[in-house]
Amino acid sequence: MQKLGARPVIIPIASGKGGAGKSVFAASLAINLARRGARVVAADLDLGGSNLHTYLGLPNTNPGVGDFLKQQRRELQKLLVPTSFNGLRFLPGDGKTPFMANIPSQQRFLLLSQLQQLPADYVIIDLGAGSALNTMNLFGLARNGIVITTLDTPAMMNALVFLRNFMFANIISLTAKRAPIKKDLLAAYRRSAGGANLTVEEVYRLIERHDPLLARETRKRCGGFQPRLVYNMADEAEELQVAQRIESTMKKNLSLQSSTLGLLFHDPAVRLAVRKNRVFLQDHPDTPYARGLAAITERILQPPAAPRLDDLIREAATHRAAPAR
Ligand SMILES: Nc1ncnc2c1ncn2[C@@H]1O[C@H](COP(=O)(O)OP(=O)(O)O)[C@@H](O)[C@H]1O
Ligand SMILES: [Mg+2]
Repeated sequence: MQKLGARPVIIPIASGKGGAGKSVFAASLAINLARRGARVVAADLDLGGSNLHTYLGLPNTNPGVGDFLKQQRRELQKLLVPTSFNGLRFLPGDGKTPFMANIPSQQRFLLLSQLQQLPADYVIIDLGAGSALNTMNLFGLARNGIVITTLDTPAMMNALVFLRNFMFANIISLTAKRAPIKKDLLAAYRRSAGGANLTVEEVYRLIERHDPLLARETRKRCGGFQPRLVYNMADEAEELQVAQRIESTMKKNLSLQSSTLGLLFHDPAVRLAVRKNRVFLQDHPDTPYARGLAAITERILQPPAAPRLDDLIREAATHRAAPAR
């Protein structure tokens, strides 16, 4: 699939809150893409909380990104380990050695650049929860990273907070060399932390007052992100209606055009599989979760113009209704 020298498609998977289902989703998506014939790397970058290996049925014995960051390993590619799935390799997280919080910036840069050169069609990146700088850097490796959330209001709010922090961090990094602008922005960010709802549009305007050209550049660079949302642990297909509100909030507050990749049902088999140290998709190829995931995999392989919410809800209803084989 990948042309010689071509870069892999990077798919970072983030969430505002822990426990949203990132790691199960990352593992399952990686398996599905590999089953469709792609060369895939599932990368565990939830440093400090690495557990992607469990969802892939692997032990936690290999050196990984943690060792790379400690400069004990020079080449990320050499850390890839095979899995029991054809075409799927695993990049371990912090393995046995505990995570080091302060990554030297040179190593951070090396990590980002080597991830983009891994020999694969897709690199799926399982991230830690929250808005650590590292996490935001990794999320920014793609224009259209995936944010997964449960359908609880606090989880959805946290997903929006993550994207807001992501936008604010990206904007500030573009003004790094302009002390007066940076100072104004930081003051505005600080005020908004007190409850005022600072929008990204207001931030752009603030930059505009200093330097219209820089403002235009910032709008172009930051406004081009198109996050894709996955809603997990649903009981009803109709719950996906909320996506419309999330999309319009994102447009209004973050000036971002987002899209909805789909809905995954709550499926007790998911948790049970992990408890038994089994790979969920292997044991349960045809459950509501697996069907939702298959539909999302297709949309990732062949992005449609823009799936309509009504169609996504109708589709999700069939995943729930289809008889288990
Ligand atoms: N759709 C689902 N139905 C039932 N359980 C789920 C579902 N998605 C995830 N889980 C369970 O929720 C827990 C957290 O999932 P995990 O992927 O580890 O979250 P995260 O990586 O976001 O912290 C795990 O026990 C997992 O098995
Ligand atoms: Mg996780």
